[in-house]
Parts: sequence; structure tokens; C-alpha cells
Amino acid sequence: MTSNQPVGPWVRPVRLGCGLLLFAYLVTHFTNHAFGLVSLQAMEEARLWFLALWRNPIGETALLGALLAHWLLGLWLIYRRRTLRMPMWEATQIILGLTVPPLLAYHVVGTRVANAMYGSEDLYTRVILGNWVQNPASGVLQAGLLTVAWSHGCVGLHYWLRFRAWYGRVFPALLAFFVLMPVLASLGIAEAAREVSELAHQPDFARRLLTATRAPSTEQMATLAQVRDGLVTMAWVLLAVTLVARIVREQLSWRHLTIRIRYPDGREVPIPVGWTVLEASRSALIPHLSVCGGRGRCSTCRIRVAGDLALTPPAPQEIAVLQRIGAGPDVRLACQLRPIRDLAVTPLLSAIRAAATARAPRDTLAGRERQVAVLFADMRGFTKIAENKLPYDVVFLLNRYFEAVGSAVAEAGGIANQYTGDGVMALFGVNTNIETACRQALLASGVMIRRVEDLSRELENELPAPLRIGIGIHAGAAVVGEIGYGDTHYLTAVGDTVNTASRLGALTKQYGCDLIISELVSEQAGLGHMDFPHHEVTVRNREAPLKVVIIDAVRRLADHLALAGTTM
Ligand code: FES
Repeated sequence: MTSNQPVGPWVRPVRLGCGLLLFAYLVTHFTNHAFGLVSLQAMEEARLWFLALWRNPIGETALLGALLAHWLLGLWLIYRRRTLRMPMWEATQIILGLTVPPLLAYHVVGTRVANAMYGSEDLYTRVILGNWVQNPASGVLQAGLLTVAWSHGCVGLHYWLRFRAWYGRVFPALLAFFVLMPVLASLGIAEAAREVSELAHQPDFARRLLTATRAPSTEQMATLAQVRDGLVTMAWVLLAVTLVARIVREQLSWRHLTIRIRYPDGREVPIPVGWTVLEASRSALIPHLSVCGGRGRCSTCRIRVAGDLALTPPAPQEIAVLQRIGAGPDVRLACQLRPIRDLAVTPLLSAIRAAATARAPRDTLAGRERQVAVLFADMRGFTKIAENKLPYDVVFLLNRYFEAVGSAVAEAGGIANQYTGDGVMALFGVNTNIETACRQALLASGVMIRRVEDLSRELENELPAPLRIGIGIHAGAAVVGEIGYGDTHYLTAVGDTVNTASRLGALTKQYGCDLIISELVSEQAGLGHMDFPHHEVTVRNREAPLKVVIIDAVRRLADHLALAGTTM
């Protein structure tokens, strides 16, 4: 949950434990429903096992306690929130959770409460007759409860487990379970409802059933309705009181000491003492990554703290996360740090900006031969960099890297059409001539290298060594077209030109330089004579050696480009 005041360390684990118990209850309840696919009789027999598990002093106490604790602690966490700005998934999860208690009142009063107050037996046959055959509107309400409670549980489980290293492997199976369980339960109910409606055609069936199960009388129904309405009202009133209380508390907190959080772009955000840095960012709408929603688990909100290190010390959980990523002493988690005086911070992982995507015209779909410049770039030593990082850190690093190189390509007029591992392939000349294409590719390469250096500086405390890339550029004929299947197509090029560019990119490692271009690229770009080393290299599937230029100082390339009329 983003943006909370400090809560007791027991609150979240207790709430989680209660949530898990409630989810287990749902699974057994839905499994019981699914027995309807076998027969109404099987459903009733399975219900006896279900009751043996849950309708006993221990089961009921645990269930009721978990329900109350999960709900009330949820309200408590809402009260403690400093701001209601939060990611969409989190808002959805909270709304689903708050909808459960009122819907549950309808279900539980008609079954367990009626049983406790009047000894009514809530057999499936009677409940389905009442809710689905005689009063379908009530059945729709029950279906709503089923959907809301299950969705709340699944979203909660997903966001709890997604940081586990093994989660990706089990996710497909878990997703299938998340989808199949309510579907089977609904089909079980539908099939049982069909059986019950057939039975209801028998003369006197309904009357005999209601008598045998001691169904509540009209007066008793009225009393139960009062109980139900009381519970529903109580649920909404408690929520309203929670919201009003937090508004009052927030108003009061601004009357006390406020401090200022300063960001790298010069913005200063005033906050009351007690807010986290993440809350400061959120309140000022400053993009700030927080993948785990401010629970101190993911480290994506981390910041470098300038100057004042006399801060409130990190809690054990924050220390554990910071140690896991090998953070320096000036790095803290923004979602956990509550400054007590003015502070300058630098978010270390910027929120990802949507990268501009370039689309090729549709006439390329069938493929055509064109003169293009092809650029390949690879991040050096990426495997080693990724070795000691958490999976989402690797993903963020890659996204920042792709953002840096992809934007350079797009700004120069090219199309970054393939991202594989830590490599990028870009095409220039799809809509222009080869001379322009070569100049664009060279321009992009210089900007890419500069941006990767900037990124490296920004993340210097997070990286074992500065980031470096190796770029190869070649030009010539290639078949350009869209490939793919179904709705997924992307523009690519095939042919010797592409293979050669890829080979030049790989050679940068051998030559220890950032950029290798073929002489053809240099000529087409109009660079004239360049005082960089020239070599001949052999390329697979190419008989004659290829003349290449080893660019060991990209800044000097800028001078040549300027002379050729292109600014890097
Ligand atoms: S948002 Fe995940 S650790 Fe701060």
C-alpha cells in the first residue's frame, strides 16, 4: 500500500494471514459449489465435509476473527494513508475489498445467521430454490459477491507473490486456477439450479422443503432483513467514519511542522513531518517508481539522499532490501524514509516514459528491397551486471537502457525495430535515401553513446562498472518488410547488410572501441577522409574482406559529421 504512516510491524502480516485463511475458505466453498456439476446430491454430500471443516467452534472462530481482522485492519490502513493517490491496481483492490462486507451480509444472514437464530438448515437445495429459482435477483447478488471476493483474493495473492523468484514459473498454472475455480463453481450452481427448478415443478415440493429445513417464517424473515440491513449500514458507516477521520487528521497535520523535499529538477515539495519521500513525490505528481506499492519490498523507489545523512535510521526490512541490492550509505527507500528536516533527494530509477514508437508505412508489409543503413548495439558485460540484481532491477535497467538508445534512434529518424536481450537493431533509410540514412545512423550512434554514459552516471551507485555499448553500422541493400503473426508484426530487414552490421557490432569488443562502421557508411555519409584507424575484416558469407573504420573517440566523429552538415 502506498503512502502510509508507519504502522505496527504486525499489521500487514496479520492482515495477510487473515486474507490467506479467507481465501482458503473461498476455495473450499467454491469447490463445494463445483460438485453441482456432478449432481445436486453430490453437492449436498460435499457440503457436510465443508461444514465439518468450517462450522465448528474452532473453524467458525477462526473464520469470523479473520474476516473482522482483515476488514478492520484494512480500514485502519486506509485511515493511516497520507494520500489517496495510488496506482490503479491498488485502488481497484481496495474498492473490491470494501465491497465484500455489505455483499457478504446478504449471503451470511440468509444462511449461517438464520441457522443460528432459528435452526434453519441452509441446504443447497433450499438456498438455490430461494436465490436462483424463486428470486433470481438475489442470485445475481450472490454471483456479485462470488466475483468480488474471488477477484480481491486473487489480486491480493498476485501482488503478494509476484516478487518471488519462482513466481514467473508458476504463474500460468496459478492464472488457470484463478480463472477455472469461479467458472467451475458458477457452472456447479447453474447445474444445481437446473435440477432444483425441475424438482420445483413437483406438487408441494417447495412447501415440503421449506418445512423440512425449518425455513424462517415471514416474521423471522423480517427480523433477518433488519439484521442484514443493520450489518450493511454498519459497513458503510464504518467506511465513512474512516474517510472523514483521515481527512480531519490530514488537515491537522499541516498545522504542525512542515519540511521541504528538493528534487533534482529544482522542485521543492512541502510536506508535514511524518510523510515519506514517496508520499511527497505522489502529492506533487512527480513520477516516482514504486512497483510494490510502497511496501518496502521492491527497492524501485530508492533515492540518493544528499547532504544530510542524520536521518531516521532504516528499519530492519529496509536494511535487508538495501543490502540485497548492494546500495551505498546514501541510498534509502523513498517509501520508508520519513525525513524530519529539509532534504534533497534524487530518485535513482525514473518512471519509465512511454517510448515513442515509429511505424513503417503499411506498404512494407509485403517486403521490398531497399538501400538502408543498419545499426546494431549491444550492452557490454550485461550478464555480469545482471548477476547480482533482482529480476525487476534487471528489467528496469534494461528499460532505461532501451529508452536511452531507442529515443536516440527515433530522434535521428530511424526505427529501433528489435530489442533482444541487451541488444538493439535499428533501421535507417526506410523512408529516405541512403546518404541521409547513413548520416542518421551515425548521428544516432553518437547520441546513444552519450545517453548511455549519462545513464551510467545516474546509476553509478547501482552498477559494478560503468555501462558501455558496442555499435556496428553497415549500409547496403536489404529486404525490408513486416514479419510476424496475427496482430503482432514488426518491421525488420534481412540480408547480408544486416548480418554484416551485426558482425561489426560484435567486433567492437575485440577492438575495444564503442563504434565500428563500414567504409561504405562513411562514404555515403559524406564524411571524407577520417583519421581513425582503418582495417579490413572478414565477415562470414562474404568473400571479400570488408573495409571498416574503428571509431575510438566518438566525440571526434562529431567534428566530421559537422563538416558533412550533420550535428551530433
Ligand atoms: S515502493 Fe517498493 S520498496 Fe519502496
